[in-house]
Amino acid sequence: MSKGVSLLSVAPMMEYTHRHYGYLLRRLSKKTKLYGEMTIDRAIAANVRLNQPSKVRRFLERNSNEKPVAVQLGATRASLAFNYDEINLNVGCPSEKASKSSYGCRLMKDPEVVCELTRTMIKEVSEWSASTNQPAIPVTVKCRIGVDDLDSYEHLTGFIEKIHNGSLYTPPDGSSQPAQVEHFIIHARKGLLGLNTKLNRSVPPLDYEFYYRLLRDFPQLKFTLNGGISDLDQVKEHLGRGAHGVMIGRAACNNIWQFAHADSIIFGATDPPPIGKLDLLMDYLQYALEREKDGDKKCTLLQPLSKTFAGRLTGQYLDRWRKMKSMQEVCDDVQANLGSVEECLTNRHPFYMMRHRLAQSKVEESIFDIS
Ligand SMILES: Cc1cc2nc3c(=O)[nH]c(=O)nc-3n(C[C@H](O)[C@H](O)[C@H](O)COP(=O)(O)O)c2cc1C
Repeated sequence: MSKGVSLLSVAPMMEYTHRHYGYLLRRLSKKTKLYGEMTIDRAIAANVRLNQPSKVRRFLERNSNEKPVAVQLGATRASLAFNYDEINLNVGCPSEKASKSSYGCRLMKDPEVVCELTRTMIKEVSEWSASTNQPAIPVTVKCRIGVDDLDSYEHLTGFIEKIHNGSLYTPPDGSSQPAQVEHFIIHARKGLLGLNTKLNRSVPPLDYEFYYRLLRDFPQLKFTLNGGISDLDQVKEHLGRGAHGVMIGRAACNNIWQFAHADSIIFGATDPPPIGKLDLLMDYLQYALEREKDGDKKCTLLQPLSKTFAGRLTGQYLDRWRKMKSMQEVCDDVQANLGSVEECLTNRHPFYMMRHRLAQSKVEESIFDIS
């Protein structure tokens, strides 16, 4: 890891990469960095006002077991997010809602705004760091390789250069080091404003060569590659070509199990073999019981299980668990049917595999809804 850049990370994904998904990921890989689902400070402030502590916690509370973890913001203020390892600004979301607010892909047309936003974030981090004696947290940008007809390599390099230079914040009293954006996450396709978010992840073609040219042209900066990468073999291939870091999105929802080998294959760790499926399920249920006592909703707690244990467990048990009143009832059901649950986890019937493949496409049906 260099300047906080992780060799492997999971992309921010609304409604997916929340802390419950993070709990499962951490049981499989201690080192893969997780980018939590995007949040905007207005949403947090509204939840504080409406006295919704579990929602506020969902976005902001992070403990050391969950690290390495980054928060992605779609707004100016970083002051609520200091217990993360990185603060990332979303300059990639092509939705209309993002375009109307001060984040998302539209900002690739307006680098001055990105400079202002990142400089404000860096200033807040710097003041917090000086007042608490904690190390400063890097502020990073996730963007695309272009937007609409601004899709030349020259536009991209101009954008990167402006953000790097324009985000520089020098504390007036010299209380901490000057800082600026030094790490960009590049989703290697351009964004088309007006096209929905799902199609924006498949219609504009991937162009990894733009990414590799950035590595050559900005040797002083760090770049993480994102877009269309689905397994650890591909991650290794890109790292072998010199990528500083690789980020997996949809394939991290559809197959979280591949991260069980990430620590050894990507990070060279020699940790004990990863946890088995039944142990992971039991461990997660225990966690979910605790979270429910703390006010988290059962439906949100069950949500990551459907993809993690896709197959017979989903078909046979998850629908039933969704109808139950509490996580305690779910745990009792698992205990009463332990043999059958274990059987579901180990043997996969072809019918459920087919159902699973159909369900995989559902991750793409999510829409951004963050009002
Ligand atoms: C359901 C879903 C939600 C997403 N939410 C976000 C988000 O909140 N912020 C963001 O920058 N990108 C978001 N993305 C885009 C991903 O972070 C990633 O850039 C994109 O899926 C391309 O990577 P992939 O081809 O590996 O999936 C989302 C993608 C999906 C599928």
